[in-house]
Amino acid sequence: MPRPRVFVARQLPQIALDLLAAECDLDVWPDRLPPSAEELRKRVAGCTGLISILTDKVDAALLDAAPTLKVVSNFAVGVNNVDLAACTARKIPVGNTPGVLTDATADIAVTLLLAAARRLGESSTDAKEGRWITWEPTGWLGCDLVGRTVGIVGMGRIGFATARRLHHGWGMKVLYTARTPKPEAEEQLKAERLELNELLDRSDFVSVHADLNPSTKGMFGAEQFARMKRTAVFVNTARGPHVDQSALAQALRTGQIFAAGLDVTDPEPLPPTHELFGLPNCVIAPHIASATTDTRNAMARLCAGNLLAGVRGERLPHCVNSEVYGG
Ligand code: DGY
Repeated sequence: MPRPRVFVARQLPQIALDLLAAECDLDVWPDRLPPSAEELRKRVAGCTGLISILTDKVDAALLDAAPTLKVVSNFAVGVNNVDLAACTARKIPVGNTPGVLTDATADIAVTLLLAAARRLGESSTDAKEGRWITWEPTGWLGCDLVGRTVGIVGMGRIGFATARRLHHGWGMKVLYTARTPKPEAEEQLKAERLELNELLDRSDFVSVHADLNPSTKGMFGAEQFARMKRTAVFVNTARGPHVDQSALAQALRTGQIFAAGLDVTDPEPLPPTHELFGLPNCVIAPHIASATTDTRNAMARLCAGNLLAGVRGERLPHCVNSEVYGG
Protein backbone atom coordinates (compact mmCIF):
# COMPACT_ATOMS: atom_id res chain seq x y z
CA MET A 1 0.00 0.00 0.00
CA PRO A 2 1.42 3.46 -0.86
CA ARG A 3 2.37 5.53 2.13
CA PRO A 4 0.24 8.64 2.71
CA ARG A 5 1.77 11.92 1.55
CA VAL A 6 1.88 14.73 4.05
CA PHE A 7 2.82 18.35 3.57
CA VAL A 8 4.46 19.88 6.64
CA ALA A 9 4.27 23.65 6.24
CA ARG A 10 7.38 24.45 8.31
CA GLN A 11 10.34 22.82 10.00
CA LEU A 12 9.00 21.24 13.21
CA PRO A 13 10.82 19.88 16.26
CA GLN A 14 12.55 16.68 15.12
CA ILE A 15 10.36 14.49 17.34
CA ALA A 16 7.33 15.30 15.15
CA LEU A 17 9.18 14.60 11.92
CA ASP A 18 10.43 11.26 13.26
CA LEU A 19 6.95 10.18 14.33
CA LEU A 20 5.44 11.22 11.01
CA ALA A 21 8.19 9.76 8.84
CA ALA A 22 7.63 6.31 10.37
CA GLU A 23 4.28 6.12 8.53
CA CYS A 24 4.16 8.84 5.91
CA ASP A 25 6.12 10.38 3.06
CA LEU A 26 6.88 13.93 4.11
CA ASP A 27 7.32 17.09 2.10
CA VAL A 28 8.67 19.63 4.60
CA TRP A 29 8.67 23.34 3.63
CA PRO A 30 12.29 24.36 4.15
CA ASP A 31 12.06 28.15 4.49
CA ARG A 32 11.71 30.29 7.61
CA LEU A 33 8.94 32.25 5.89
CA PRO A 34 5.60 30.58 5.13
CA PRO A 35 4.71 29.30 1.66
CA SER A 36 2.53 31.65 -0.40
CA ALA A 37 -1.12 30.67 -0.77
CA GLU A 38 -0.37 29.50 -4.30
CA GLU A 39 2.64 27.43 -3.21
CA LEU A 40 0.63 25.93 -0.36
CA ARG A 41 -2.13 24.89 -2.80
CA LYS A 42 0.46 23.28 -5.10
CA ARG A 43 2.17 21.40 -2.29
CA VAL A 44 -1.02 20.14 -0.65
CA ALA A 45 -2.58 18.89 -3.89
CA GLY A 46 -2.42 15.10 -3.78
CA CYS A 47 -1.63 14.97 -0.05
CA THR A 48 -3.56 12.95 2.53
CA GLY A 49 -2.43 15.12 5.44
CA LEU A 50 -1.44 18.71 6.11
CA ILE A 51 0.44 20.10 9.09
CA SER A 52 -0.28 23.82 9.15
CA ILE A 53 1.20 26.61 11.24
CA LEU A 54 -0.76 29.59 12.56
CA THR A 55 0.56 31.70 9.68
CA ASP A 56 -0.89 29.36 7.02
CA LYS A 57 -4.38 30.12 5.84
CA VAL A 58 -6.34 26.90 5.45
CA ASP A 59 -9.37 28.03 3.47
CA ALA A 60 -11.88 26.68 0.98
CA ALA A 61 -9.60 27.45 -1.98
CA LEU A 62 -6.83 25.36 -0.44
CA LEU A 63 -9.18 22.50 0.40
CA ASP A 64 -10.61 22.55 -3.13
CA ALA A 65 -7.09 22.15 -4.48
CA ALA A 66 -6.58 19.08 -2.26
CA PRO A 67 -9.49 16.68 -2.82
CA THR A 68 -7.57 13.75 -1.29
CA LEU A 69 -6.91 15.58 2.02
CA LYS A 70 -8.14 13.56 5.02
CA VAL A 71 -6.77 15.61 7.93
CA VAL A 72 -5.45 19.05 8.91
CA SER A 73 -3.28 19.13 12.01
CA ASN A 74 -2.55 22.67 13.20
CA PHE A 75 0.66 23.20 15.17
CA ALA A 76 -1.06 25.52 17.69
CA VAL A 77 -3.92 25.52 20.12
CA GLY A 78 -5.57 28.46 18.30
CA VAL A 79 -7.16 27.57 14.98
CA ASN A 80 -8.20 31.00 13.71
CA ASN A 81 -6.06 30.42 10.60
CA VAL A 82 -8.31 27.49 9.62
CA ASP A 83 -11.74 27.83 8.03
CA LEU A 84 -13.39 25.23 10.24
CA ALA A 85 -16.75 25.39 8.46
CA ALA A 86 -15.03 24.66 5.14
CA CYS A 87 -13.17 21.69 6.68
CA THR A 88 -16.30 20.36 8.35
CA ALA A 89 -18.30 20.67 5.11
CA ARG A 90 -15.67 18.41 3.49
CA LYS A 91 -15.62 16.05 6.52
CA ILE A 92 -11.98 16.89 7.20
CA PRO A 93 -11.12 16.75 10.91
CA VAL A 94 -8.91 19.55 12.25
CA GLY A 95 -6.52 18.90 15.12
CA ASN A 96 -4.92 21.35 17.56
CA THR A 97 -2.53 21.17 20.53
CA PRO A 98 -4.44 22.07 23.71
CA GLY A 99 -3.16 21.81 27.27
CA VAL A 100 0.56 21.45 26.66
CA LEU A 101 1.23 25.17 26.16
CA THR A 102 -0.93 26.39 29.03
CA ASP A 103 1.88 26.95 31.54
CA ALA A 104 4.36 28.44 29.08
CA THR A 105 1.72 30.90 27.87
CA ALA A 106 0.59 31.84 31.37
CA ASP A 107 4.25 32.45 32.25
CA ILE A 108 4.57 34.92 29.38
CA ALA A 109 1.31 36.65 30.33
CA VAL A 110 2.71 37.23 33.83
CA THR A 111 6.12 38.19 32.43
CA LEU A 112 4.57 40.85 30.20
CA LEU A 113 2.32 42.06 32.99
CA LEU A 114 5.31 42.53 35.29
CA ALA A 115 7.50 44.03 32.56
CA ALA A 116 4.82 46.57 31.64
CA ALA A 117 3.89 47.36 35.26
CA ARG A 118 7.55 47.85 36.25
CA ARG A 119 8.61 49.65 33.05
CA LEU A 120 11.25 47.06 32.30
CA GLY A 121 11.47 47.67 28.54
CA GLU A 122 11.76 51.42 28.89
CA SER A 123 14.20 51.42 31.81
CA SER A 124 16.47 48.79 30.31
CA THR A 125 16.59 50.71 26.99
CA ASP A 126 17.35 53.90 28.94
CA ALA A 127 20.17 52.14 30.80
CA LYS A 128 21.68 50.76 27.59
CA GLU A 129 21.44 54.10 25.80
CA GLY A 130 23.11 56.22 28.49
CA ARG A 131 20.07 57.73 30.21
CA TRP A 132 20.86 55.97 33.54
CA ILE A 133 22.75 58.88 35.03
CA THR A 134 22.14 58.20 38.72
CA TRP A 135 19.71 56.52 41.15
CA GLU A 136 16.65 58.76 41.37
CA PRO A 137 13.94 58.59 44.06
CA THR A 138 11.27 59.29 41.46
CA GLY A 139 12.85 57.52 38.49
CA TRP A 140 11.00 54.84 36.46
CA LEU A 141 8.14 54.48 38.94
CA GLY A 142 5.85 51.58 38.13
CA CYS A 143 2.91 49.91 39.83
CA ASP A 144 2.63 47.21 42.48
CA LEU A 145 0.79 43.94 42.02
CA VAL A 146 0.20 42.79 45.59
CA GLY A 147 -3.45 42.94 46.56
CA ARG A 148 -4.54 44.48 43.24
CA THR A 149 -7.28 43.21 40.94
CA VAL A 150 -6.76 41.32 37.69
CA GLY A 151 -9.47 40.97 35.07
CA ILE A 152 -9.11 37.78 33.03
CA VAL A 153 -10.92 38.04 29.71
CA GLY A 154 -11.65 34.44 28.76
CA MET A 155 -11.28 31.98 31.65
CA GLY A 156 -10.16 28.92 29.68
CA ARG A 157 -7.10 26.84 30.55
CA ILE A 158 -4.60 29.65 29.94
CA GLY A 159 -6.73 32.31 31.62
CA PHE A 160 -7.05 30.06 34.65
CA ALA A 161 -3.30 29.32 34.80
CA THR A 162 -2.55 33.04 34.60
CA ALA A 163 -5.11 33.89 37.27
CA ARG A 164 -3.76 31.13 39.53
CA ARG A 165 -0.25 32.56 39.33
CA LEU A 166 -1.44 36.06 40.12
CA HIS A 167 -3.85 35.05 42.89
CA HIS A 168 -1.50 32.70 44.72
CA GLY A 169 1.70 34.61 43.95
CA TRP A 170 0.59 38.18 44.54
CA GLY A 171 -2.71 37.78 46.39
CA MET A 172 -4.60 39.38 43.54
CA LYS A 173 -8.38 39.53 43.42
CA VAL A 174 -9.55 37.77 40.24
CA LEU A 175 -12.43 38.96 38.05
CA TYR A 176 -13.28 37.17 34.83
CA THR A 177 -15.48 37.01 31.78
CA ALA A 178 -16.57 33.72 30.23
CA ARG A 179 -19.58 32.43 28.34
CA THR A 180 -20.36 30.07 31.24
CA PRO A 181 -19.43 30.19 34.94
CA LYS A 182 -16.16 28.49 35.87
CA PRO A 183 -16.68 26.73 39.22
CA GLU A 184 -13.00 25.75 39.48
CA ALA A 185 -11.93 29.41 39.27
CA GLU A 186 -14.66 30.51 41.66
CA GLU A 187 -13.76 27.86 44.24
CA GLN A 188 -9.97 27.83 43.99
CA LEU A 189 -9.32 31.50 43.23
CA LYS A 190 -12.50 33.10 44.62
CA ALA A 191 -12.90 34.55 41.15
CA GLU A 192 -15.95 36.66 40.29
CA ARG A 193 -17.64 36.45 36.87
CA LEU A 194 -18.70 39.77 35.37
CA GLU A 195 -19.69 41.43 32.12
CA LEU A 196 -16.72 42.90 30.28
CA ASN A 197 -17.58 46.54 31.04
CA GLU A 198 -17.70 46.01 34.79
CA LEU A 199 -14.49 43.99 34.67
CA LEU A 200 -12.77 46.86 32.84
CA ASP A 201 -14.08 49.43 35.34
CA ARG A 202 -12.75 47.46 38.32
CA SER A 203 -9.49 45.87 37.14
CA ASP A 204 -5.95 47.16 37.73
CA PHE A 205 -4.63 44.60 35.21
CA VAL A 206 -6.52 43.20 32.24
CA SER A 207 -5.22 40.02 30.58
CA VAL A 208 -6.79 38.70 27.37
CA HIS A 209 -7.15 34.95 26.83
CA ALA A 210 -10.29 34.68 24.71
CA ASP A 211 -10.47 32.72 21.44
CA LEU A 212 -10.43 34.81 18.31
CA ASN A 213 -13.76 34.56 16.50
CA PRO A 214 -16.13 37.05 14.87
CA SER A 215 -17.60 38.03 18.26
CA THR A 216 -14.23 38.73 19.92
CA LYS A 217 -12.45 40.36 16.97
CA GLY A 218 -11.85 44.03 17.81
CA MET A 219 -13.34 43.62 21.30
CA PHE A 220 -10.78 46.10 22.69
CA GLY A 221 -11.30 49.51 21.09
CA ALA A 222 -11.43 53.16 22.15
CA GLU A 223 -14.53 52.60 24.27
CA GLN A 224 -12.98 49.74 26.24
CA PHE A 225 -9.66 51.53 26.83
CA ALA A 226 -11.60 54.63 27.96
CA ARG A 227 -13.36 52.56 30.61
CA MET A 228 -10.11 51.23 32.07
CA LYS A 229 -8.34 52.91 34.98
CA ARG A 230 -5.60 55.40 34.12
CA THR A 231 -3.28 53.15 36.16
CA ALA A 232 -4.33 50.00 34.31
CA VAL A 233 -1.97 47.59 32.56
CA PHE A 234 -3.29 45.73 29.51
CA VAL A 235 -1.84 42.35 28.46
CA ASN A 236 -2.62 40.32 25.35
CA THR A 237 -1.23 36.83 24.79
CA ALA A 238 -4.24 35.58 22.78
CA ARG A 239 -4.44 37.00 19.24
CA GLY A 240 -3.64 40.45 17.81
CA PRO A 241 -6.99 41.07 16.09
CA HIS A 242 -8.76 41.20 19.47
CA VAL A 243 -7.37 44.73 19.71
CA ASP A 244 -7.85 47.94 17.73
CA GLN A 245 -4.16 48.85 17.81
CA SER A 246 -4.70 52.53 16.89
CA ALA A 247 -7.04 52.86 19.86
CA LEU A 248 -4.50 51.11 22.09
CA ALA A 249 -1.69 53.39 20.89
CA GLN A 250 -3.86 56.44 21.56
CA ALA A 251 -4.73 55.18 25.07
CA LEU A 252 -1.04 54.58 25.84
CA ARG A 253 0.11 57.89 24.34
CA THR A 254 -2.45 59.99 26.18
CA GLY A 255 -2.08 58.23 29.52
CA GLN A 256 -5.59 56.83 29.38
CA ILE A 257 -4.00 53.57 30.55
CA PHE A 258 -0.59 53.10 32.16
CA ALA A 259 1.07 50.43 30.02
CA ALA A 260 0.60 47.39 27.80
CA GLY A 261 2.38 44.09 27.26
CA LEU A 262 1.70 42.28 23.98
CA ASP A 263 2.83 38.89 22.74
CA VAL A 264 0.52 39.08 19.73
CA THR A 265 -0.14 41.85 17.23
CA ASP A 266 -1.94 42.43 13.96
CA PRO A 267 -0.18 41.96 11.63
CA GLU A 268 2.60 39.64 12.69
CA PRO A 269 5.34 40.54 12.45
CA LEU A 270 4.47 44.10 13.42
CA PRO A 271 6.58 46.42 11.25
CA PRO A 272 9.43 47.94 13.31
CA THR A 273 8.14 51.41 12.30
CA HIS A 274 4.73 50.76 13.88
CA GLU A 275 3.67 53.42 16.37
CA LEU A 276 3.31 50.87 19.19
CA PHE A 277 7.06 50.19 19.01
CA GLY A 278 7.67 53.91 19.54
CA LEU A 279 5.75 54.02 22.81
CA PRO A 280 7.91 53.55 25.93
CA ASN A 281 4.98 52.12 27.88
CA CYS A 282 4.36 49.27 25.44
CA VAL A 283 6.35 46.04 25.73
CA ILE A 284 6.09 43.82 22.65
CA ALA A 285 7.32 40.23 22.31
CA PRO A 286 7.29 38.39 18.95
CA HIS A 287 4.58 35.77 19.72
CA ILE A 288 6.82 33.66 21.97
CA ALA A 289 4.30 32.43 24.54
CA SER A 290 4.73 28.74 23.71
CA ALA A 291 8.42 29.06 22.84
CA THR A 292 10.12 26.73 25.29
CA THR A 293 11.87 23.56 24.18
CA ASP A 294 9.68 21.27 26.27
CA THR A 295 6.46 22.96 25.23
CA ARG A 296 7.26 22.95 21.52
CA ASN A 297 8.26 19.26 21.76
CA ALA A 298 4.98 18.49 23.49
CA MET A 299 3.07 20.42 20.81
CA ALA A 300 5.02 18.48 18.19
CA ARG A 301 3.94 15.15 19.69
CA LEU A 302 0.26 16.15 19.85
CA CYS A 303 0.37 17.56 16.37
CA ALA A 304 1.96 14.41 14.93
CA GLY A 305 -0.51 12.25 16.89
CA ASN A 306 -3.46 14.10 15.37
CA LEU A 307 -2.04 13.84 11.88
CA LEU A 308 -1.30 10.12 12.13
CA ALA A 309 -4.76 9.36 13.52
CA GLY A 310 -6.29 11.27 10.62
CA VAL A 311 -4.37 9.49 7.88
CA ARG A 312 -5.19 6.12 9.48
CA GLY A 313 -8.88 7.05 9.48
CA GLU A 314 -9.01 7.11 13.30
CA ARG A 315 -10.57 9.80 15.46
CA LEU A 316 -8.10 12.63 16.21
CA PRO A 317 -7.11 12.76 19.90
CA HIS A 318 -7.58 16.57 19.82
CA CYS A 319 -10.19 17.53 17.26
CA VAL A 320 -11.78 21.00 17.13
CA ASN A 321 -14.59 20.08 14.73
CA SER A 322 -15.78 16.77 16.15
CA GLU A 323 -19.05 17.28 14.22
CA VAL A 324 -17.21 15.53 11.35
CA TYR A 325 -17.66 12.29 13.29
CA GLY A 326 -21.43 12.76 13.53
CA GLY A 327 -23.50 12.12 16.64
C1 DGY B 1 -1.14 28.87 19.81
O1 DGY B 1 -0.80 27.69 19.95
O2 DGY B 1 -2.27 29.18 19.45
C2 DGY B 1 -0.12 29.91 20.13
O3 DGY B 1 -0.51 31.17 19.79
C3 DGY B 1 1.23 29.57 19.51
O4 DGY B 1 1.77 28.60 20.27
